Order: sequence, then C-alpha cells, then structure tokens
Amino acid sequence: MSNTSLLSLFFFLSLCISPSLSDLCNPNDKKVLLKFKKSLNNPYVLASWNPKTDCCDWYCVTCDLTTNRINSLTIFAGDLPGQIPPEVGDLPYLETLMFHKLPSLTGPIQPAIAKLKNLKTLRISWTNISGPVPDFISQLTNLTFLELSFNNLSGTIPGSLSKLQKLGALHLDRNKLTGSIPESFGTFTGSIPDLYLSHNQLSGKIPASLGSMDFNTIDLSRNKLEGDASFLFGLNKTTQRIDVSRNLLEFNLSKVEFPESLTNLDLNHNKIFGSIPAQITSLENLGFLNVSYNRLCGPIPVGGKLQSFGYTEYFHNRCLCGAPFESCK
Ligand SMILES: *[C@@H]1O[C@H](CO)[C@@H](O)[C@H](O)[C@H]1NC(C)=O
Ligand SMILES: *[C@@H]1O[C@H](CO)[C@@H](O)[C@H](O)[C@H]1NC(C)=O
Ligand SMILES: *[C@@H]1O[C@H](CO)[C@@H](O)[C@H](O)[C@H]1NC(C)=O
Ligand SMILES: *[C@@H]1O[C@H](CO)[C@@H](O)[C@H](O)[C@H]1NC(C)=O
Ligand SMILES: *[C@@H]1O[C@H](CO)[C@@H](O)[C@H](O)[C@H]1NC(C)=O
Ligand SMILES: *[C@@H]1O[C@H](CO)[C@@H](O)[C@H](O)[C@H]1NC(C)=O
Repeated sequence: MSNTSLLSLFFFLSLCISPSLSDLCNPNDKKVLLKFKKSLNNPYVLASWNPKTDCCDWYCVTCDLTTNRINSLTIFAGDLPGQIPPEVGDLPYLETLMFHKLPSLTGPIQPAIAKLKNLKTLRISWTNISGPVPDFISQLTNLTFLELSFNNLSGTIPGSLSKLQKLGALHLDRNKLTGSIPESFGTFTGSIPDLYLSHNQLSGKIPASLGSMDFNTIDLSRNKLEGDASFLFGLNKTTQRIDVSRNLLEFNLSKVEFPESLTNLDLNHNKIFGSIPAQITSLENLGFLNVSYNRLCGPIPVGGKLQSFGYTEYFHNRCLCGAPFESCK
C-alpha cells in the first residue's frame, strides 16, 4: 500500500471511530458552548447542541466561513430560565450576540460580555434582565448596533456609550432607566446613532449639547423630560424622525425651523406653547404629525401636508384655529 492510501485508510477509520475529527467546529468553541448549555440546565431551545455532532451545524449559532470559529449566538422566542452564563465571554470570535423574547431570562447583563471585543451586534431585548446598563459596553468599540430594549434595566445611562464610534443605533427604550440623558450624547464622533430612549423614567432637561448632533432618528417619548427641546430642530439638519411626546417639555414653537428632511414629528402631551410655524408647510415628506395636548395657539398654517392630518393630531391645545378646526376669527 502506498503512503497516500495508508493515510486515507487511516483517515477513513478515524472518521468512523471519532466523528469529531470531521468537525469544522473549533474544539474550544464546542467545549464552551456545551458548558454554556449545561449552565442553563440543558434547555429545550438548545436541544440540537449534541456533543456528537459538528457545532457549526447546531441551531442558534453560526461559524465563520473561513476560520470556522463561532461568530454568532442568537437565541430567541423560548423558555430560558436563569441568567446569561459567564461562558458566553469565552467565544472570542463572536460578532453577533442576541437574546430576544425570553421572558424567563433574568439577572444582570453578564459582565463576561466585556471580553467580546469583536462584537458588532449586541441585542438583549424582551427579557427580564435587570440591573444597570453596564459601563463596560463602551469598551466594545466594534459595536454598530446596541439594543437593550424591553427589559427590566434600571439606574442611569452611562455617558461612556458616546465613545462607540461605529454605533448606528442605540436602543435603550422600555426599561426603568432614571436620571438625565448624558451630556456626552451631544459628542458622538464618527457615526451618530439613531437614539431610542423612550418609555423610561428619564428626567431633567435634555442636554443642549444634543443640538449639535444631526440625528436621523431621535425618540425620547414617554419620559419626564422638561424644558427646551427646540435645539433638536434646525434647517441645517437631515433628521427624519423626532418623537418627544409624553414628557413635560415647555418651549416656544413659534421660532423653530424644521429640517426639510422631517418625515415624522410627534410632540403630543407636553406644555409646548407659541404657534405652529408656517415653514412646516414646506416639508414635502412629512407623513406623521401630532401636536395634540399642548398649549399651542393661533392659525394652523395652510399648505403642504398640514391639511392631510385630522382633528386628533391637533386637538387639546390652547387656541389653534383653521382646518381641521373652525376658521380663525
Ligand atoms: C417578565 O416576567 C413577567 C412575569 O414574571 C412577565 O409577565 C413579563 O412578560 C416578562 N417581561 C418580558 C419583557 O418578557
Ligand atoms: C474590531 O474588529 C476587527 C476585525 O473585525 C478587529 O481586528 C479589531 O481588533 C476589533 N477591535 C477591537 C477593539 O478589538
Ligand atoms: C425588575 O427589577 C426590579 C428592581 O428594579 C425587581 O424588584 C424585580 O423583581 C425585577 N423583575 C423581574 C421579573 O426580574
Ligand atoms: C447647525 O447650526 C448650529 C448653529 O446655527 C450649529 O451649532 C450646529 O452644529 C449645526 N449643526 C449641524 C449638523 O451642522
Ligand atoms: C413665542 O415666540 C414668538 C416669536 O418670537 C413671540 O412673538 C411670542 O410672543 C412667543 N410666545 C410666548 C407665549 O412667549
Ligand atoms: C395624537 O396624539 C393623541 C394623544 O396621544 C392621540 O389621542 C391621537 O390619537 C394621536 N393621533 C394620531 C393620528 O396618532
């Protein structure tokens, strides 16, 4: 027998004896994943994680096509009682980590996640994770998407998140976050993320520094924010969506200049006074407007999209007049 055929015979036999030799999966990654599964008491959602099979074929994970290292772990819509196990930090090639719609997932955001320097997407949403938004997230400098929405997170928002230069979206909405919006959120360098902070208990003034950011989307609705928000607007911006509804904001709308790019504007349930500026009729793409429940007065400007909105988008103000209300006297 030639050396080559001996070698292939050996290879063939070894395949039969130990299927793991044919695994694409990195043995360290496999070991870590099996420990992770065990820490969670072998939940049904991870039933496909069979030690006898290639972990690159398991559900909820994917391997990089060239290195075969585990690069994503995404678990969603299932029963996963317990906390995120620390083993998650031992998958050094992870770029995507997602826990979504897992009502029985509790405990803090696992500190070992700080080790995952290659993470680009971190999404822990619709779970019962609690505790603070940890400061260490700002060390994950490759993050482009951070979503921690619909959890039970409390405490204040770490200002250090503004150090994430590649962040395209920051979702911290629907938690129990308190304190004020960090001043540093007016100093994002690199990409300026879409900012979702709604449905929390944020209070105090919106930092004026946010006025120097050209956000595409900013949603601060359903908090306890007070004072001015006029600096979020401005003709030199390309903002599309602004939602500051259901806060305690109090400023004069009369002199505000709206970005031409605006598509959605929700100001409802505040204490905004003055009148609706006529310049708003020049916004060609304005598809949603709600200024109800404020203290606005004077004529609803005629033109643009303004008459395409109904009664409920304008009602409960001090003295707005003109269509869809009675004509001004
Ligand atoms: C958190 O747990 C409660 C019950 O303990 C459940 O009603 C709620 O839906 C859970 N929250 C989420 C976001 O899954
Ligand atoms: C970000 O990811 C690149 C590769 O995608 C990697 O080379 C780099 O080390 C990562 N950044 C950090 C801070 O680890
Ligand atoms: C949510 O967090 C609060 C503390 O902020 C805690 O008392 C409560 O038990 C948590 N709920 C769940 C379902 O973890
Ligand atoms: C818009 O102009 C204001 C001053 O008028 C300035 O402070 C702000 O940085 C400008 N914003 C952008 C996005 O250029
Ligand atoms: C709002 O600003 C306009 C324009 O400067 C001014 O005429 C008006 O008096 C102000 N309204 C109130 C209630 O201060
Ligand atoms: C505008 O907001 C008010 C107050 O929340 C609400 O009652 C109304 O239905 C809203 N209108 C539209 C079209 O969303």
